[in-house]
Amino acid sequence: MMPISIDESKQFIEEVIFSYQSQLSTGNIPDLAHRVKLLEKQKRNLAFHRKPKSVPVSVKIPEILIKASSNSDFYKGRENYLGLIKKCCAASPWTVGYETEDETFHRNFGFAEFIGPEGVFHSKEFSCGFVAMGENSVYPEHSHPAVELYEVISGPLLWRIGRNPWFLAKQGQLIHHNKKQLHAMKTRELPFLGIYTWIGDIHSPSVMKE
Ligand SMILES: [Fe+2]
Repeated sequence: MMPISIDESKQFIEEVIFSYQSQLSTGNIPDLAHRVKLLEKQKRNLAFHRKPKSVPVSVKIPEILIKASSNSDFYKGRENYLGLIKKCCAASPWTVGYETEDETFHRNFGFAEFIGPEGVFHSKEFSCGFVAMGENSVYPEHSHPAVELYEVISGPLLWRIGRNPWFLAKQGQLIHHNKKQLHAMKTRELPFLGIYTWIGDIHSPSVMKE
């Protein structure tokens, strides 16, 4: 039996849409409305595609979410969102995703597609998934042809885009990466959980900078 129902998956997608819509009026993210449209379309077309798989960091997600909510004003009133994220994460096929022999990275990093070519729910058009990092860890500079938008669920953490200075990414913040734009993250005492959506070339993988 899947750890999540179709109805709960729909509710999760609606919560992501809510996060995006609440920042539509700022006009800061050019492709937000397009992402909402893709999520709305997917919500009407949900059939299970991939089975759950865990990695060391994904096992810690319930714990990460407790930390996320106890430190947060942002998620007050959105406890339902956090509950749905927990279930969606448990249903997702997690992977470390990069071929590296760095054991610390293997222990502290993972991502999973919830919607996408290899997702719990299949899509060829876009992907939506999770990235998790343990505390005091580094996700080195990487890039991908897909255009990405993150929502920070657990944070704050340090974030860098291109050659710009590191900034503090806060819970609830939406962070946009253009295609092939380098980005990196660093956690301190709090672990990181983020939800991403990819549009554009979603089939080419993310690669670490040499
Ligand atoms: Fe990325």
